[in-house]
Amino acid sequence: MENKKTNRLRTLTEPFKIKVVEPLKVTTEEYREKALATAGYNTFLLSAKDVFIDLLTDSGTGAMSDHQWSAIMLGDESYAGARSWEKLEAVTKDLTGMPYVLPTHQGRAAERILYSTIGGKGKFFISNTHFDTTRANIEFVGSTAIDIVCEEAQDNQSDAPFKGNIDLKKLRALIAEHGKENIAAVIMTVTNNSSGGQPVSMENYKEVRRICDENGLFLVMDGCRVAENSYFIHHREPGYNTKSFREIAQEMFSLSDAFVMSAKKDGLVNMGGLLTLRDSELAVQCKNLLIISEGFATYGGLSGRDMEALAVGLVEVFDEDYLHYRIKSTTYLGEGLRKKGIPVVWPIGGHAVYIDAKELYKNIPLKEYPGQALVCDLYLKGGIRAVEVGSVMFGKYDENGELIPAEKELVRLAIPRRVYTQSHIDYVLDVFDDIIEMRDQKTRGFEITYEPPFLRHFTANFKPL
Ligand code: F0G
Repeated sequence: MENKKTNRLRTLTEPFKIKVVEPLKVTTEEYREKALATAGYNTFLLSAKDVFIDLLTDSGTGAMSDHQWSAIMLGDESYAGARSWEKLEAVTKDLTGMPYVLPTHQGRAAERILYSTIGGKGKFFISNTHFDTTRANIEFVGSTAIDIVCEEAQDNQSDAPFKGNIDLKKLRALIAEHGKENIAAVIMTVTNNSSGGQPVSMENYKEVRRICDENGLFLVMDGCRVAENSYFIHHREPGYNTKSFREIAQEMFSLSDAFVMSAKKDGLVNMGGLLTLRDSELAVQCKNLLIISEGFATYGGLSGRDMEALAVGLVEVFDEDYLHYRIKSTTYLGEGLRKKGIPVVWPIGGHAVYIDAKELYKNIPLKEYPGQALVCDLYLKGGIRAVEVGSVMFGKYDENGELIPAEKELVRLAIPRRVYTQSHIDYVLDVFDDIIEMRDQKTRGFEITYEPPFLRHFTANFKPL
């Protein structure tokens, strides 16, 4: 893509400079071998001090700006009606156009409140792809979560620009099959995290709105990366390159009945979440749950200073230079890996690069979790922490206890916002040379030795085979 500003034509440079540094510990492979064994071969259970480059998640791991840090000093910690709440509420209403704003401590609290209110036994939720906590919150209240990402997303290599889209044909078919009265909501995840951080087009979103209108269905935007999604629409969808990123996001909000946000992503804060609604009755019900479980309606799960930082973050995230750098630096990593012959989900998404571990570690059987094997190797070889998004995260068992593998075996390298520099990313690329050297000899993976009933990937233990 051609850049408007000359400095963007050269090396991809960070549009910020560093004011505070956080030292990283350099470790040996031998050290990491021990650390990994102690963690039960689950990188979620590692001590972060033993991780060199932490690409586990882009959630809550970003660096705040000087403006955000100074806003923190303005935090009004009044229990009710704090100034900081008024600021956050105004910024959120202005952005989303929704009249009811509920602050939560993070995204999943907003999900739990909304989905337990509109869901329940026998209800169905249909999504392009539910994120794991979304699915868990839905299943926890006895509802069923169905993913119907578009056909183009099946092909990891094609250039299709909007692989995060929902399959509209399947959406219509599911409504007919289950009956519109049994469908609690359609949830559009933008960008589509679990299917590769891929964007959703406005055209697709508008069609979903139309189908929801025809059937009286409730449309929720799970929009924790809505600014990143807007960047892709601006650059890839006809008719949008004259609209600002914020205007594009606002058009998408205008099509939605509710907005659930983990502010730890495009809110540019380390903790926080939002639920915004249009319907006053639903807002009252949700507010009751908010007060029971999170906190009073004017702070939810947040302190005054958290709300200050979020109010600034929701504006900063739409900054043109920031978003350009953000998306381009993720692309830089993805393109670099692809050049080395690493199979990556293509095109590169917004917040992360997804590696096809089934393809990379072809000789490891699916029931031995090739994605987990890659995650462990990245840590051993380079101190890099990544996350498996495959059968460890989404696998199920059949009645004989045999693994029903997930559709894909991906490994995600998520990029924290404004944290790592290009040289860190170059280091990650270097570590993959070791992976390439080993790939053909890898024939065995892992066995699960412990797992909890929900969200097993967080706490499962593994044994190398
Ligand atoms: N929805 C999406 C699309 C997410 O990516 C996440 C979190 C949530 C909801 C839940 O938000 O963590 O604030 O409770 N994703 C993180 C990740 C954890 O690593 O992708 P939360």
